[in-house]
Amino acid sequence: MSGRELVEQTSTGSGRSDDVRHQLETLSARAACLQGGSALERLVSAVSEAVERITVENEGMAEELLSVYEQLGIVFEVTQKLPTVQHESEVIDLFVDSLRRSFQKREVFVVQPRIPANGSREGTPESPNDWFEGLVRRTRESRSVTVESPPAGATPAWVVEVMVGPVFAGKSFVCAIALTRSSDVNGFRSSDMLLLESLTMFCGDLIRNHRLLQELREMSVTMVRSLVNAVDQKDQYTSGHSLRVGYFASLLGRALNLGNEELQMLQWSALLHDVGKIGIRDDVLKKKGRLTEDEFDHIKEHPVRSHKVVEEVPQLAGALEGVLHHHERFDGAGYPLGWAGENIPLQARIIQIADVFDALTSDRAYRPAYDWETALDILREEAGRTTDPQLQKMFDRLIREQVENHPNGWEKTVEQANRFVQESDKCRSAPSGG
Ligand SMILES: [Fe+2]
Repeated sequence: MSGRELVEQTSTGSGRSDDVRHQLETLSARAACLQGGSALERLVSAVSEAVERITVENEGMAEELLSVYEQLGIVFEVTQKLPTVQHESEVIDLFVDSLRRSFQKREVFVVQPRIPANGSREGTPESPNDWFEGLVRRTRESRSVTVESPPAGATPAWVVEVMVGPVFAGKSFVCAIALTRSSDVNGFRSSDMLLLESLTMFCGDLIRNHRLLQELREMSVTMVRSLVNAVDQKDQYTSGHSLRVGYFASLLGRALNLGNEELQMLQWSALLHDVGKIGIRDDVLKKKGRLTEDEFDHIKEHPVRSHKVVEEVPQLAGALEGVLHHHERFDGAGYPLGWAGENIPLQARIIQIADVFDALTSDRAYRPAYDWETALDILREEAGRTTDPQLQKMFDRLIREQVENHPNGWEKTVEQANRFVQESDKCRSAPSGG
């Protein structure tokens, strides 16, 4: 049963009270006709007053109960859907949808902020829009729900009352939620105002939390980018490598239909896979000649060093496997643990292909970059030895589709890879609805 239906039932209940009142009035009239009826008349009158008082109290309690019932229903509905929300405008939409269901036969809409903070127009004649903008402004300034009847001509003729509630995220005005009603619907009650006030406050709190979360996410993305850049800058030949590995790994991850969370962790893992190189000596990392066995052993420490850096961040636990195992080989001859085949976590097998492909298509101190087709040929030759053969086939197809179907396809691919944007960045940079 909806909250509104509960109201209707409550109204029916008060109809029953009217019957009792009517019977008491009849009894009172009969008592007045009886000998010595005045005592009985007084008794009937006292009972009548008591019934009246109880009825009024019951109606008040029913309204209060209704308001709490509807608040709970909407809060429950909204919190159930919150995990899927990525943008603050979706939070507002959730509340508006719930209010529409709760306030059937009333129009519910969102008023975006477009009124200047000091936009007082006192003393100027009011046009229809001025009245409504003034109502929203008054609501915003008082930070409380307001109900007003529009002056003639200020709204469409069917609108007899407007209720507006402001949504504030902390001190910042986000929007106002407005409800209008026509004359064939009951007037807004104090319980309706209470309901809108509670929900706009809850909506504002959620938006404020959402903004704080976005700021934290933005800060962590910026910090990771700085860290990754610092590592890549250690060697001019690896500049931008981590971003491009993130991009190529994402191509494969999407083609494999990874879920949003898995895809984000794959991207973090790809971005951070070489972060441990920050602890590798420069004379080894930048050496142009052949590495000695000791030097190579030192280089081979970097996946474990990367793992140690990333495991310090509990939120990135899902990115650890790719970081630790990105130098394993499908034939088991890789490092650090010599795992083979599908024992190597999928995340690491994806990053490994992206890593090798970017290394092949980048200049190195000891050779110029291979062109993309030669790099794909080398990956194919290495399938089953270095790389996962199934992932290699899929990657081959993805790169060919992307490059061959567009003019300057390879240049565009490299440009996109160098500007790689994570899923979480996309959410952050989406237009604000508030
Ligand atoms: Fe590496």
